[in-house]
Amino acid sequence: MAENMDAKIVIIGCGIAGIAAAQRLIESGFTNVRILEATGRSGGRIKSSRLGNAVIEIGAAFIHGPSEKNPVFCLARDYDLLDPKALTPENQAVDVDEGPPQVPNWFTSSGQKVSPETVEPALELFYKLLDSTPQSKSHKQGSLPSVGDFIKSEVLKRTAKKWKNKDKSSRRLLLGAINTLLKEECYSSATHSMDELDLVGFSMYQSIKGVDCTFPSGTESLISSLMSELPADLVSYSRPVRCIHWSNSESGVNAVTVECEDGERISADHVIVTVSLGYLKKHNSTLFSPALPDQKLQSIQKIGFGTCDKILVEFESPWWDADCEIIYLVWDDEEDISDHVSDISKNWIRKISSFTVVTPSERGNHVLCGWISGHEAEHMETLPEEEVRRCITELIHAFTGDHTITPKTIVCTRWFHDPWTLGSYCHPAIGCSAQDFKNMMEPLPKRGKKQPLQVLFAGEATHPFYYSSLHGALLSGRREADRLISHYS
Ligand SMILES: Cc1cc2nc3c(=O)[nH]c(=O)nc-3n(C[C@H](O)[C@H](O)[C@H](O)COP(=O)(O)OP(=O)(O)OC[C@H]3O[C@@H](n4cnc5c(N)ncnc54)[C@H](O)[C@@H]3O)c2cc1C
Ligand SMILES: *[C@@H]1O[C@H](CO)[C@@H](O)[C@H](O)[C@H]1NC(C)=O
Repeated sequence: MAENMDAKIVIIGCGIAGIAAAQRLIESGFTNVRILEATGRSGGRIKSSRLGNAVIEIGAAFIHGPSEKNPVFCLARDYDLLDPKALTPENQAVDVDEGPPQVPNWFTSSGQKVSPETVEPALELFYKLLDSTPQSKSHKQGSLPSVGDFIKSEVLKRTAKKWKNKDKSSRRLLLGAINTLLKEECYSSATHSMDELDLVGFSMYQSIKGVDCTFPSGTESLISSLMSELPADLVSYSRPVRCIHWSNSESGVNAVTVECEDGERISADHVIVTVSLGYLKKHNSTLFSPALPDQKLQSIQKIGFGTCDKILVEFESPWWDADCEIIYLVWDDEEDISDHVSDISKNWIRKISSFTVVTPSERGNHVLCGWISGHEAEHMETLPEEEVRRCITELIHAFTGDHTITPKTIVCTRWFHDPWTLGSYCHPAIGCSAQDFKNMMEPLPKRGKKQPLQVLFAGEATHPFYYSSLHGALLSGRREADRLISHYS
């Protein structure tokens, strides 16, 4: 119905969800679509940069599950943004649950490099447990609330006999390796501790086949490609939205009025909100007038939103093996199984589980990416870069025993202190279920009202099983565009 194709649609946020929604609406013939973006750039949590000659990612780096089922993979392939290896059928066919495919180097806090075989029993046990978290409450472990509790109790149970005959130092090394892997999982889930992840909720996330790949010229190349096909005046940058007045709270022909920080008021028939869950948690009471319904608020509260950051470090020369893809750090002085530290301002650096090698083949450029999550990451964000650099230097000296290694340059990300994101991505916190993601994506007002679909919700944290990912965010934007398209057809 041509006369409806000029319905006024405002999208809040120019991350991948907002861009995907706009693209689908425009390609379906909607003529009155506009994006309001708080910052001066598009991409949101997709942000690439450079360190020396190396491309580094401040935000998303990997296509998780690069194969046909992943729409981000399909776009990247069609725009010719991927390495040939990522396009091979073999790469696409690998089931990611089969374990970490990267070549590791392991170092301990007493300055030793240990062989991967030495820590193999810890890896084997850890990934077996991670793959066997119960899918429903009826499971016999149903009384354990969190993934952390489950893993800890199973490790203790299963190693009591098996690792008993090992000497004290090898036992410590294995338990230390378990801690390293737990910390790495904290990063993957953007949580402070695996003790905060719902044991049953954990398996809501569905993985897609394919060995994770990166964008050789930066994830932002995907954003540039997408934006180049959209109208140049689609996005208003540096235009933060203060309040969405919905439900005819202001009189006028259109159902919704979007009030910007600069005082401008934009009327619309439909608004698609794509701001992060962190932003919704902090600003829910002022961003919507009238306030969001209780059910939506409860789910905003229940779904967790945590921090993970990267510490990118450039070295003069590599101190890792030529074929190494990931460096694991094991503290061999830790008594308990634990993935978080006690005195954060003193011990935050212990939360770094590993460094991945960013540029294995680029000549003369040796960049590692350190991974840190939780309150330890939030604390790191408050430190001057010089202090982070000093701590990283000390860390590497201790773990390699080589006091001549010095980082050249360092870049750390600060997602928790980014006022438009306020963290990294969402996770199923304890008590969180599939219903909460359903509530997140529910449009307002509820059915039956005169002017339906006034406010729609997209973004990473509204996808029921691909939350926390690029493809989840992209699909959520398309989903809300499709909701409007079918409304008018
Ligand atoms: C450190 C890190 C690493 C990650 N790694 C990966 C990875 O390897 N693979 C992967 O698949 N995913 C990864 N992710 C997750 C992925 O980046 C996100 O899921 C995805 O980019 C989210 O897109 P979005 O459009 O939902 O939100 P965003 O990209 O956050 O977009 C929301 C936009 O809304 C804007 N905004 C906020 N408030 C307002 C306002 N009041 N008015 C106007 N505009 C506003 C923001 O500025 C932002 O541009 C990572 C994320 C982080 C932080
Ligand atoms: C809504 O915002 C208020 C004020 O910032 C905050 O106290 C409250 O916890 C938020 N609610 C949810 C559900 O996050």
